[in-house]
Amino acid sequence: MSTSADLSPDITTVAVPTHWYNLAADLPEPIPPHLHPGTGEPVGPDDLAPLFPSGLIAQEVTTERYVEIPEPVREIYARWRPSPLIRLKAFEKAIGTTSRIYAKYEGVSPVGSHKTNSAVAQAYYNHLDGVTKLTTETGAGQWGSALAFAGAQFGIDVEVWQVRASYESKPYRGYLIRTYGGTIHSSPSTLTEAGRKILAETPDTTGSLGMAVSEAVEAAVVDPEARYALGSVLNHVVLHQTVIGQEAVEQLALVEDGGADAVFGCAGGGSNLAGLAFPFIREKIEGRSDPLIVAAEPTACPSITKGEYRYDHGDVAGLTPLLKMHTLGKDFVPDPIHAGGLRYHGMSPALSHTVELGYVQGTAIDQDTAFAAGVTFARSQGIVPAPESTHAIAAAMQWVAEADEPKVVVIGLSGHGQLDLPAYAEYLERQQ
Ligand SMILES: Cc1ncc(COP(=O)(O)O)c(C=O)c1O
Repeated sequence: MSTSADLSPDITTVAVPTHWYNLAADLPEPIPPHLHPGTGEPVGPDDLAPLFPSGLIAQEVTTERYVEIPEPVREIYARWRPSPLIRLKAFEKAIGTTSRIYAKYEGVSPVGSHKTNSAVAQAYYNHLDGVTKLTTETGAGQWGSALAFAGAQFGIDVEVWQVRASYESKPYRGYLIRTYGGTIHSSPSTLTEAGRKILAETPDTTGSLGMAVSEAVEAAVVDPEARYALGSVLNHVVLHQTVIGQEAVEQLALVEDGGADAVFGCAGGGSNLAGLAFPFIREKIEGRSDPLIVAAEPTACPSITKGEYRYDHGDVAGLTPLLKMHTLGKDFVPDPIHAGGLRYHGMSPALSHTVELGYVQGTAIDQDTAFAAGVTFARSQGIVPAPESTHAIAAAMQWVAEADEPKVVVIGLSGHGQLDLPAYAEYLERQQ
């Protein structure tokens, strides 16, 4: 006989976290600081002030273990959080595994991905400092639409530079950004010095996140009313995303005594995986469970598996501080794969550090393998995963297929792909 737990596999019965969790407090070695490109010294609050509000600058360097989530941010989170942890029985059946696989599903947020977790927090701290305009970059458009939504909550204008390859192939995200009241430009654009220089050198470029970051940073620096918001990579972004993993650890404990054997997430700049995985690393450090943690990246942009671990800029023009991270080099332009959010040359310094410490390992998945996994997932569970998230699904599928006994697996399903259907259509056409 099936139990009610079998019939209701979506677990949401945990509270929205009251704090963000900062893994830096529990690591045996500190995360290397960001450096000032001119002096080579660690960046201080004054260096970051033209870009970020004081609350976020403090979070970038804090070693406090838990940072309280302000009430207005929690109230907005509570519109969709806790996000469900879903037991993927139909998917397990479809791939013929006896492993128990769960998805932590961030597609329930208003824009359909985890990006809102940081966007709302970033808009809030900017609002506290009286900022009325935010500039940002976006790849596939999830981050840009998340920030446009968050800006609308706090009366902040949002201006977005979207990577050209995605701007042209994914117009729906642009429509969503405009619906929330934001403005959107294709990057590289003629609106900034950085964009004009790139266009003069490579007029046919498909664009990259590194280029779009340069444009958005420049636009914020020249406008005293504006600040810049980054959708991934930095420590404060990772911190905000830890609501995902804190909920998942609690939700999993309701149904699995031993916790997870493995946690999979896709990694572009590293924020959704770090947000999911860092509370699981806390479990590991405290001896409660010992999960394998895997960062799934595209073979077209393999920063962890093929990049160097060194200081590099976060953008093409070299406007950002130097970040210690796995990088393919700031000038690397990946092929225009559909997982636009994974086309970033670097990786979060916090996530890179956990790779170096041996807590996280990377794996690279090619685009067709990722889409095949996404289609299997959609046809079984019904949810169409974001092209980024399909990398995590494919990596988990490969791992359970090779496992010698049934495992407990958590997949970070970072978003849905309802606005990425042309990419699915193109993949399906190619298979005929
Ligand atoms: C749905 C989705 N997943 C994953 C990513 C990758 O970013 P990150 O590695 O910071 O989570 C993105 C970025 O745009 C995204 O939109």
